[in-house]
Amino acid sequence: DWTMSNFVNEQIQLVKDKVGNKKVLCALSGGVDSSVAAVLVHRAIGDNLTCIFVDHGLLRKDEGDQVEEIFSNRFHMNFIRVNVQERFLTKLQGVTDPETKRKVIGEEFIRVFEDEANKLKGMEYLLQGTIYPDVIESGSKDGAVIKSHHNVGGLPDDVDFTLIEPLRDLFKDEVRAVGEELGIPKDIVWRQPFPGPGLGIRIIGEITNEKLDILKEADHVFRDEIKNSGLENEIWQYFAVLPGNRSVGVMGDERTYDYTIALRAVTSTDGMTSDWARIPLDVLERISNRIVNEVKHINRVVYDITSKPPSTIEWE
Ligand code: XMP
Repeated sequence: DWTMSNFVNEQIQLVKDKVGNKKVLCALSGGVDSSVAAVLVHRAIGDNLTCIFVDHGLLRKDEGDQVEEIFSNRFHMNFIRVNVQERFLTKLQGVTDPETKRKVIGEEFIRVFEDEANKLKGMEYLLQGTIYPDVIESGSKDGAVIKSHHNVGGLPDDVDFTLIEPLRDLFKDEVRAVGEELGIPKDIVWRQPFPGPGLGIRIIGEITNEKLDILKEADHVFRDEIKNSGLENEIWQYFAVLPGNRSVGVMGDERTYDYTIALRAVTSTDGMTSDWARIPLDVLERISNRIVNEVKHINRVVYDITSKPPSTIEWE
């Protein structure tokens, strides 16, 4: 009969049978799908799996270190972290159009991954965390592209690997259950959706180091307070956006002219439609106070109260 642990053991055996003593490469993003896929295959073949984690600097505060800690130190995987923050920032200089940003980030990601993969010898398989909704989505032929939804885990078609996709029959909640079964920490298994281009599409207009730092700090405060107030599991996604405008404020006796932070929090079941989350006003108040007090160069906080449609969840 079907239980989660039977499923996991079966998949591990299938991977063993398929891969044998060959080597497998994986692009690990730290998101739910690639993490679960990696731990599952690691259980099956151990050191014959190598994971490449491209840290493009567009992740949330401390996220790169957390991913390294979990997969390198806790799970003892062959784990390669590529620190290419500067490389991405340089590529993104002067880029303001949302779709161009996605394209630049996606292409640069592939280039970095290929460079790293070429340094490794004898890799025959490529592990991908494809899940069932991805399979359906990529089969669909609906015309209008609203956002290109470049998933930074997506890799080129022309590389010479055989794919393994152990999660391709599973829905998201099943992937999470497999993750729990495999002992992956809850903050990875229950992680909210995070776009491949990361904070790159949460800074409106040009991305700079200064803006990235401001956004990371503000977003960190927001997430911390949502956690403190126990709302984590009721909200589909919650994050800060840096619209990039400045406005006048007053701090002490001083006039300020600084950035605005927009808070976005939505409820949803699939990300296709969403409503803005009814976060209690006292929680919003605490978040706002903390952000203006703790994050330099922010003097105004606004809350986005639009649903999807007509808005989208992300601002770009
Ligand atoms: P929108 O903004 O279109 O987002 O309402 C719907 C869901 O998709 C995520 N999203 C992305 N995910 N690459 C991704 O991997 C992207 O370029 C991208 N853009 C949006 C968004 O976070 C939400 O969950």
